[in-house]
Amino acid sequence: MADTDGLLDARDFGGAASGTGGFHVKGAQAQDWGLQNRLARIFKADTGRTVMLAFDHGYFLGPMAGLERIDVNIAPLVPDADAIMLTRGVLRTSIPPATDAGIVLRASGGPSVLRDLSDEHIALDMEDAVRLNAAAVAIQVFVGSENESRSIANLAALVDAGQRHGVAVLGVTAVGKDMVRDARYFRLATRISAEMGAHIVKTYYVEEGFETVTASCPVPIIVAGGKKLPELDALTMAYRSIQEGAAGVDMGRNIFQSENPAGMLAAIRAVVHDEVKPEEAYQLFKDHSAAGTAS
Ligand code: 5RP
Repeated sequence: MADTDGLLDARDFGGAASGTGGFHVKGAQAQDWGLQNRLARIFKADTGRTVMLAFDHGYFLGPMAGLERIDVNIAPLVPDADAIMLTRGVLRTSIPPATDAGIVLRASGGPSVLRDLSDEHIALDMEDAVRLNAAAVAIQVFVGSENESRSIANLAALVDAGQRHGVAVLGVTAVGKDMVRDARYFRLATRISAEMGAHIVKTYYVEEGFETVTASCPVPIIVAGGKKLPELDALTMAYRSIQEGAAGVDMGRNIFQSENPAGMLAAIRAVVHDEVKPEEAYQLFKDHSAAGTAS
């Protein structure tokens, strides 16, 4: 039995409330503690932003350039990412469990690149996402495509499961090949995902009116990198996205297809978290590359 002799009466109850009401992730103030905690594994509390390294492309593209050996080429980058977006197959086989990165699991799938990509289904049970300690699950949303309606129903079903378990849902804006990538389309697509309950929405950057996309979406927008660009151009896109209201990047090819992925990741971090200007970040990238060559 515990020794209860000499216990002191509690008497110092402090003054004002400690003020835990504020939360740094847009639109998540009213979420439960577990979901907020998971969002805080993705979005850093000091800046409210994230650098998410995406390498889930193999779920429909197979071993694309840069992702041939995730255990060799990608795993060493993980400690420098705030969050990683990947499939459960790659997580279990190729990523060391002793990681601090927020885990964002790809939860949709079905067609390969050889078929209609919008023909997706939910491809992950929320119970397995919880078992894998996922902070969020991610699903494509095909607004304007053949299977628009099913993809939105898939998102809603994942949100229901996510709310039950306290796991966030990332709605990924998937743009059909023939569709116009402009602010009008992205306002429509991102807002639909948020209205259906997504806690984070991923989209592409557009030069005209991107601030209207971030302003009209009630949850954080993160920006996909898209096809490989010259490093300075990718850093410029990331910089503009942040200045125009994005809460981070979810970047893949512009990091892992760079000739110096670790240098590119460091430069992107400087842009996202420290608001370093693109030219200065590019110099960081070049310095990192030169140091790597010298050693
Ligand atoms: C694949 C994805 C990717 O994760 C996303 O497009 C980010 O990667 P990239 O920067 O290479 O575009 O959702 O469907």
